[in-house]
Amino acid sequence: MRIHVADHPLIAHKLTALRDETTDSPTFRRLADELVTLLAYEATRDVRVDEVTVTTPVAEAKGTKLASPKPLVVPILRAGLGMLDGMMRLLPTAEVGFLGMVRNEDTLEASTYAERLPDDLSGRQCYVLDPMLATGGTLAAAIRFLVDRGADHITAICLLSAPEGCDRLEKELDGLDIPVTVVTAAMDEKLNEKGYIVPGLGDAGDRLYGVV
Ligand code: URA
Repeated sequence: MRIHVADHPLIAHKLTALRDETTDSPTFRRLADELVTLLAYEATRDVRVDEVTVTTPVAEAKGTKLASPKPLVVPILRAGLGMLDGMMRLLPTAEVGFLGMVRNEDTLEASTYAERLPDDLSGRQCYVLDPMLATGGTLAAAIRFLVDRGADHITAICLLSAPEGCDRLEKELDGLDIPVTVVTAAMDEKLNEKGYIVPGLGDAGDRLYGVV
């Protein structure tokens, strides 16, 4: 597994505003959207392409187009939905599958409560959207789910990550023989006793959509 912490002043700037507890929901949604687009640029460096030839008004030129099958973008409900538009801005022809996972706040374990994904993901590159890589349980379960369906290349985009989550992901995905990359805007300090990232930004779902 590879972790890529995107190091860019614009990413750092937007993330700082996102962390601020006085940032309201509409601004938080806009910033998350912009941040994901910047992270998506980093995350799609390995997107599969085919060579094509294009005719310009002057001559023929060698070019590139996204390969088939198209990449699959998988937001993890609920908070991952706040990352979808920012991702699709860069990959408008990608397909979208949904995975609903919930974390039990006592055990901190993840379980699947909804899924809308192709049965066969053989040969598919998948981009998983999950804003907070905290304990790593949800993301590990989501990645396993996609691999079990045949996905052969997975990139997770997370706004924030904690070292504990990365370690767990590393352990749980040990032995997987497909490339897995996590692209994140920052690696924070730690998790607190409630499983929140410190300093973090609080509950991403609540800040995007309000407390349910
Ligand atoms: N999920 C969140 O929304 N925030 C955290 O800090 C950890 C998990």
